[in-house]
Amino acid sequence: MASASTTSGRIDLDDIDLSDRAFWRRDRAYREDAFRLLRDTPGLQFYAEQVLEGSPFPPGPGYWSLVRHEDVWAASRNAQLFCSGQGSNIGDLPQELNEFFGSMINMDDPKHFRLRSLVSKGFTPKDVARVETYVRPKAAAVVDRLLDEHPDGTADFVQAIAAPLPLGIICEMMGIPDEDHERIFRWTNVILGVGDPEYASTMDELMASSLEMFAYAQALGEARRARPTDDLTSVLMQAEVDGEQLTSQEFGSFFILLVVAGNETTRNAMSHGIKALTDHPDQRQVWYDDFDAHTKTAVEEIVRWATPVIHFRRTATADTELGGQAIKAGEKVVLWYNSANRDERVFPDPYRFDVTRSPHPAQVGFGAGGPHFCLGANLARREISVMFDEIRRRLPALRTTGEPAYLESFFINGIKRLPCAWD
Ligand code: HEM
Repeated sequence: MASASTTSGRIDLDDIDLSDRAFWRRDRAYREDAFRLLRDTPGLQFYAEQVLEGSPFPPGPGYWSLVRHEDVWAASRNAQLFCSGQGSNIGDLPQELNEFFGSMINMDDPKHFRLRSLVSKGFTPKDVARVETYVRPKAAAVVDRLLDEHPDGTADFVQAIAAPLPLGIICEMMGIPDEDHERIFRWTNVILGVGDPEYASTMDELMASSLEMFAYAQALGEARRARPTDDLTSVLMQAEVDGEQLTSQEFGSFFILLVVAGNETTRNAMSHGIKALTDHPDQRQVWYDDFDAHTKTAVEEIVRWATPVIHFRRTATADTELGGQAIKAGEKVVLWYNSANRDERVFPDPYRFDVTRSPHPAQVGFGAGGPHFCLGANLARREISVMFDEIRRRLPALRTTGEPAYLESFFINGIKRLPCAWD
């Protein structure tokens, strides 16, 4: 049996069960050590599945774990052999629910191609340039409000900085009025916080939030189809590929994906980012001293360090072999981005936070390439760089002052609260 002596004690391969919630409650050093042992163990490990409490669906057949960068990379880039159409989360859902919850992230070509082509019309360089015009003022407004509402120089970084920016931007992009932002925020928390008792632990709550958000989106979409404005919802509702438009159902599901994907991920990247800059003041100094020169690599390093999305799943469409393991058609593989982003075969000294890591080997926080690569990667990079630029210019001493309250999840590497202070 493989085992390793590590900083957190001796770990045996048999002790590791990535499906066990208890594993994800262990401290981070233990988990890093466990993933390192998995990477160093030839072949792939297979884990049984656990279901969410109250789920009406039986547990699936289990999955192979891809933990090395090379294997995650290979599966992600061969979508014909490792498909998404049977689901991109570990558990199985009926097909209609897969598409309802996941939209295009749970589709394969030609469906995926059609939908991605349609929605890409809202992410052209022209659209992204238009969004750019309000990223800076929104980031500045976030700092204004922070200073206004926290005269004592302390705050919760998540609530005051990391959450409002991505939320404000995605809502503005989609044309969601200010008074509805709070509702959107609550729905996304429930959907992605599932499993963490603070948000929602039952399937019923997840379904209720999704249905409410879906109905909200359909109404917004139809309103813009009838009377277009200059927001992304209008672009999407008017867009055509081969004479076809998005149906209002397709828009509803895409809206859920976009709002959820665009919100929590960027928020968590920023929160992990400020913690990393506090824990590594030398790196903060390097970046802040010559901000523009290091921004590109620093942002990529923050996303690698944070890996806000811990995994996605694929399903093999034919018998194959990967990472020294025979995989049968129909079997699931899970791409552990967190582990690939710490793979010492690709990242020299992977546990070192280095804002100049350059040339940056391909970090996989936005996915490891292939047709599903994050549609919002450029927007997220921009939000992170502008927010840290505002912090650097107006609150250069801003730092975390305590341990984060982490989200209990093996899907989202979330931070719920993070105390911070500035002088
Ligand atoms: C730091 C922030 C973000 C991270 C870490 C992140 C991560 C990811 C990952 C890992 C995937 C799956 C890639 C794959 O399967 O190959 C993905 C897909 C996606 N992301 Fe992001 N994302 C971020 C921000 C955003 C933003 C801001 C938006 C939109 C405004 C967005 C929209 C999407 C969409 C629509 C997909 C599905 C693409 C498809 O299936 O074709 N993401 N993202």
